[in-house]
Amino acid sequence: MNNFLSSDQLSGLIQAAYIIAGVLFIFALAGLSKHETAKRGNMFGMSGMGLALVATLVLAARNSQTLANQRPLAVTLGLVVVAMVIGGAIGAWRARTVEMTQMPELVAMLHSFVGAAAVLVGYNSYLEPGSETTGSLAAIHSAEVFLGVFIGAVTFTGSIVAFMKLSARMKSSPLVLPQRHKLNALILLVSAVLMVMFMTNHQSSAIVPLAIMTALALFLGFHLVAAIGGGDMPVVVSMLNSYSGWAAAAAGFMLNNDLLIITGSLVGASGAILSYIMCQAMNRSFISVIMGGFGSDGAVSGEEKDYGEHRETTAAEVAELLASAQSVVITPGYGMAVAQAQYPVAEMTAKLRAKGVNVRFGIHPVAGRLPGHMNVLLAEAKVPYDIVLEMDEINEDFPETDVVLVIGANDTVNPAANEDPSSPIAGMPVLEVWKAHDVIVFKRSMATGYAGVQNPLFFRENTSMLFGDAKERVDDIVRALG
Ligand code: TAP
Repeated sequence: MNNFLSSDQLSGLIQAAYIIAGVLFIFALAGLSKHETAKRGNMFGMSGMGLALVATLVLAARNSQTLANQRPLAVTLGLVVVAMVIGGAIGAWRARTVEMTQMPELVAMLHSFVGAAAVLVGYNSYLEPGSETTGSLAAIHSAEVFLGVFIGAVTFTGSIVAFMKLSARMKSSPLVLPQRHKLNALILLVSAVLMVMFMTNHQSSAIVPLAIMTALALFLGFHLVAAIGGGDMPVVVSMLNSYSGWAAAAAGFMLNNDLLIITGSLVGASGAILSYIMCQAMNRSFISVIMGGFGSDGAVSGEEKDYGEHRETTAAEVAELLASAQSVVITPGYGMAVAQAQYPVAEMTAKLRAKGVNVRFGIHPVAGRLPGHMNVLLAEAKVPYDIVLEMDEINEDFPETDVVLVIGANDTVNPAANEDPSSPIAGMPVLEVWKAHDVIVFKRSMATGYAGVQNPLFFRENTSMLFGDAKERVDDIVRALG
């Protein structure tokens, strides 16, 4: 390779490829911000990543040659290709088999890999600093290693706990240790002291403060996320997304890799912005999220309360009610995704619209299990975008709505969030469906939703329960509508 290009020219080309890849990633993020351009955004992202991979392979090949021929080029490339084939095969298999409803837990698991990679890169960079660094450069390198390992370790265990909570391998209720905020602050303080010790110690014993901090950071990651209760998990997932970006950027500094710094910062910043938007949507404080544990400390779950009797209805009765309605709002939730009911829902919508009924959708920002979950499902079933409205756009219209169909949603339509200050979801804005004339709730039982809180909506006078699988019940309604 060096026969064609000088080493400097090759470095220049690699840097140029990295900058183009960085720009493509920015285009990808811009494209992903709207339904209409999301596909194009993904294409930009894939092209950027392809270019980055090729440039990195070339870089690895060049580095292996400049290492005084310690390792033959074929061996370096062979090792990289074997790693890529194994990783690519696992990635392709997971991407093909994962259910849409399992996406957040998959994403949480992937974040843990980024965290683990940052920790490993940190230790590697400490043990084998590459070109000799002295003076202030050495201090900067030590700071990069320490911070990279710290962020990586917090991201690693935090993401594993998020994965376990989201996949119901761990209870979703918050872990409330005594003095937990003081405990977190103490860990931060001790880590700062350890950082000073690490940076001022130039002997091999400097690994001791690094190792102690790693153990503390692993515990901190576990504790920050374990302390957060079920309903607030979406914010945690996007926050971990942000942490994983900063961990990658830290690894980029250690490896002197500009692209990793750019990509990591993009992920870190966009994850932080998403967390902020979600905090606002859920009426939670951003600072308390980053500090961990803004969950349901000491709140009463409301489950013991007696809300009285609920009423049941049938698909035939609902079909009649819908056919005579003027305005209908459908508020879907996680259950619609589980039942894959979006197709019959789209069919029912088309039939009602053909009869002149004004049908619209009200989408809660955290309905389902990932941001935009419901929008993706409805788009997949070809529901027109213009009748799919955000919570804020539709909330004022419920008092004038004849029928609301709550399809597999629970926490996102829970009036306790507005009315019961002791509820774990108190203060979270919800779709105010109970203000409509009639409310029909599609679910299989009286079980609670993700946050584990009972829903007084089910016992209101204008609410009727339509029990069963959401897809089967909507299919019944479609048939009854003729
Ligand atoms: P949930 O509160 O999770 O309630 C879903 C309801 O669907 C359940 O009560 C369940 O009742 C019903 N259901 C399940 N399978 C069904 C099926 N096959 N047919 C009919 N009904 C079915 O849903 P939501 O209102 O969408 O709220 C989302 C919750 O998840 C919030 O607490 C949110 O904070 C949390 N969360 C959201 C995200 C994001 S980013 N969106 C990420 C993680 C967590 P039955 O069992 O009785 O059927």
